[in-house]
Amino acid sequence: MAENVGRSVLVTGANRGIGRAIAERFVAAGDRVATIYRSGDLPAGVLGVVGDVRDTASVDAAFTRVEEEHGPVEVVVANAGVTRDQLLMRMSDEDFDTVLDTNLAGAFRVARRASKAMIRARSGRIVLISSVVALYGGPGQVNYSASKAGLVGMARSITRELGGRGITANVVAPGFIDTAMTQALPEKQQQAYLGAIPAGRFGQVDDVAAAVQFLASPEAAYISGAVIPVDGGLGMGH
Ligand SMILES: NC(=O)c1ccc[n+]([C@@H]2O[C@H](COP(=O)([O-])OP(=O)(O)OC[C@H]3O[C@@H](n4cnc5c(N)ncnc54)[C@H](OP(=O)(O)O)[C@@H]3O)[C@@H](O)[C@H]2O)c1
Repeated sequence: MAENVGRSVLVTGANRGIGRAIAERFVAAGDRVATIYRSGDLPAGVLGVVGDVRDTASVDAAFTRVEEEHGPVEVVVANAGVTRDQLLMRMSDEDFDTVLDTNLAGAFRVARRASKAMIRARSGRIVLISSVVALYGGPGQVNYSASKAGLVGMARSITRELGGRGITANVVAPGFIDTAMTQALPEKQQQAYLGAIPAGRFGQVDDVAAAVQFLASPEAAYISGAVIPVDGGLGMGH
């Protein structure tokens, strides 16, 4: 059993990008942080359990292992996500299914498994990492935007189911954040986004991590079913 400080926090996909920054922030705050991850290395102080959010048995086994080491998960962040961008008429079933299975069903598997202990504890924080394109839309992102919009309905339904049990479920909707996911976009598309962002810059991973940490904090106990944009104003009004 790890030293009993802070809370038991689980972030999916903490090996890189936004998930890594979120995990680092919770570690710095003194929480016991774990991740379900597929590859790569992890930040110092993070308990890693290899797994895949597309697989229910894998998610369940990872939670069991984390519970053994850190105790019941009190804060869960569904961060793992993928893109398979393609124009609608060319998008394959496989590209659609993979993105929905990872981004939407993956978050469902993680939230469902986390809810068991949270209901028992009558307390918990569920944060789902969506995207500005959930409500803004994105060309070539029919699969991705549908998966991210689905997270809004998911968080709001969880709020209606479990809001009376001290559990909050919120969505963080990052805009254009400087990570491998956005670096993979064509330069022309990156510049078009930059021109549309009122803040005049791309976001940093820590901009997103800060919002997640706030939603997981005691100060955010009365915020649930919310969609918190972290996008420099890109998605305003959506
Ligand atoms: N970057 C942005 O501008 C932006 C904007 C809006 C929303 N988001 C969302 O923020 C989240 C993190 O994005 P990012 O930019 O940090 O992306 P990233 O650098 O591509 O990282 C994605 C993470 O998800 C993990 N992952 C993917 N499929 C998985 C699976 N089946 N099981 C377990 N882990 C899996 C990846 O693991 P591997 O390393 O093993 O592939 C990686 O750790 C995603 O949900 C993304 O949609 C990002």
